[in-house]
Amino acid sequence: GRVPVICIDGPTASGKGTVAAEVAKRLGYHFLDSGAMYRVTALAATRAGLAIEPSQEAAIAALARALPVRFEDGKVLLGADDVTEAIRTEEAGMNASRVSALPSVRLALVDLQHGFQALPGLVADGRDMGTVIFPNAPYKVYMTASAACRAERRYKQLISKGISANISELRADLEARDARDQSRAVAPLKPAADAQWLDNSELSIDQSVQQVLAGWLQRQ
Ligand code: C5P
Repeated sequence: GRVPVICIDGPTASGKGTVAAEVAKRLGYHFLDSGAMYRVTALAATRAGLAIEPSQEAAIAALARALPVRFEDGKVLLGADDVTEAIRTEEAGMNASRVSALPSVRLALVDLQHGFQALPGLVADGRDMGTVIFPNAPYKVYMTASAACRAERRYKQLISKGISANISELRADLEARDARDQSRAVAPLKPAADAQWLDNSELSIDQSVQQVLAGWLQRQ
């Protein structure tokens, strides 16, 4: 379409969310945090008393199709409830990963994601932005970092919020989540064939932002 979309996909805690939001801000583009949609869906399912497992797929998908989620000023709202913090726990991430493996739940969230495509442009953050949701996007980045780096970053994030954490447990958790995301049947985490790889293990956030912006400018 005529709306430019920049896709940033990659594994858990690769920094892509932070980088994608900053790139969107600098370009004045809209920002899609697709992971938040899966996190909110998992939370809504849990609150509705649904177990997050394949036997509940139809019920969770029905819930996802009518998900009363809104993104406002950096806040995530589920109905009238501010769930910005509640969806960021490790448990919420693991539940999001389990809910996201259910094919009809993924399908239920497609229109909501496409709705973010608006002028002057969109930066979309997720696992399947470039492969499934916006396959014709002119610029796709596959952002990654070593598991050790990602665990350390997540650790520092939690500690800075006053949440205690264990770095080897965090690493085991994120590797388990990545393994599930990469091995699922529908829309598995993988780089799009036309994605540019960016390993930011040795880069600061600002350097990663610069690299993405430079890559985008080259395509103009
Ligand atoms: O990126 P974030 O950690 O918020 O994503 C939470 C979970 O949602 C991921 O582990 C993944 O299983 C799922 N997800 C997905 N497709 C996306 C974005 C997130 O399956 N586009």
